[in-house]
Amino acid sequence: MRIAMIGTGYVGLVSGACFSDFGHEVVCVDKDARKIELLHQNVMPIYEPGLAELVASNVKAGRLSFTTDLAEGVKDADAVFIAVGTPSRRGDGHADLSYVFAAAEEIAHALTKPSVIVTKSTVPVGTGDEVERILAKIAPQSGAKVVSNPEFLREGAAIEDFKRPDRVVVGTDDEDAREVMRAIYRPLSLNQNAPVLFVGRRTSELIKYAANAFLAVKITFINEIADLCEQVGANVQEVSRGIGMDNRIGSKFLHAGPGYGGSCFPKDTLALMKTADDNDTPLRIVEATVQVNDARKRAMGRKVIKAMGGDVRGKTVAILGLTFKPNTDDMRDAPSLAVIQALQDAGATVKAYDPEGVEQASKMLTNVEFSESPYVAADGADGLVIVTEWDEFRALDLGRMAKILKTPLLVDLRNIYPSDEAKRAGLTLVGVGRGTE
Ligand code: UDX
Repeated sequence: MRIAMIGTGYVGLVSGACFSDFGHEVVCVDKDARKIELLHQNVMPIYEPGLAELVASNVKAGRLSFTTDLAEGVKDADAVFIAVGTPSRRGDGHADLSYVFAAAEEIAHALTKPSVIVTKSTVPVGTGDEVERILAKIAPQSGAKVVSNPEFLREGAAIEDFKRPDRVVVGTDDEDAREVMRAIYRPLSLNQNAPVLFVGRRTSELIKYAANAFLAVKITFINEIADLCEQVGANVQEVSRGIGMDNRIGSKFLHAGPGYGGSCFPKDTLALMKTADDNDTPLRIVEATVQVNDARKRAMGRKVIKAMGGDVRGKTVAILGLTFKPNTDDMRDAPSLAVIQALQDAGATVKAYDPEGVEQASKMLTNVEFSESPYVAADGADGLVIVTEWDEFRALDLGRMAKILKTPLLVDLRNIYPSDEAKRAGLTLVGVGRGTE
């Protein structure tokens, strides 16, 4: 299959690289000439484990190429994937679809055969209909079909998620388009037994939002249970294990922490709420989730202040982990931003260490001293706070930390460390939802 991938962001680049690895011929297109130039030199615009190697090997094999010329990429393509951004529209939280529609127009002008046009970007219900209208207006003779094919990959595990998905969702009623999509995903259904779920286009668009919203609800639920655990003397990790063993609930996405962030959950829950409101069907559970999660991030700052005795004026706090989760450099809606702001507002000085996020973080934070190791950050600080669970924080020398900290306090917002281990090292540990300690 010949595939054009429009947009080389997270989803576009990972999908393009993986499709080429399946053996398809893929051209990735982006308007950003600098990005394309760097991709030609195998410099990735994002930090994602394994991506540079995957791109390099497929470029070498002649299956993957990059261009700024959309018409060139679209020409002769069996399928054209739209994988451009759909950020929150400023002011109202609706998904901003201007990039999707602009791409659809350009594609329409460039079509030379009845290609299948696939929206991979997360787009609100009905967007496929609008893309179809654009194609019908500009290229009425093209015979192009519009399909929805949302992507469920997680940052930091993107390649693994793409190649071993729980399911692939394809939204179209058109049999020819289904055939093309079947052929594109055949390597997955053959080798990985990944089910390809064929549904209507609107249903497919909604599945993506419903999945993300459900996961956001699940995390937020366990976060509230964690707060209750602290009040009643229960342990949230054991509650998670206990409820997660029920197959109807499932053990994943039940880790209590400082609240969810990232490029998807915050924006997609907002966009889903807007769609629901516009259709007079408000989703109250999702609304509550968004509110609770927003409030939680700053509340985590207050939790740190309380652990430090209630007054942090003139004190120094060392933060470990800035990105919204490990194995990414993505700082979008990261809980660390609200935690640090709350600490600074209360008069604390903040030092921070993150393995990959400092470049992005330095654009979003002011007056933070970035350190080159967890120990440099902790040296002389009045408290150490783990905000993101990078693997390298799982094997810290806690004894050394206890010695170099001015006050031997560890606030572990990801529940990495058991309390006895911290105690043995001479640290006071404050976790999340561990009311029994
Ligand atoms: C998410 C979805 O998982 C993915 O399917 C979709 O395509 C995009 O959005 P991503 O944002 O990359 O992926 O990260 P994810 O691993 O889902 O984590 C999202 C946030 O939830 C992070 O801030 C993470 O720390 C938090 N989280 C996750 C928890 O706090 N507890 C959990 O148990 C799981």
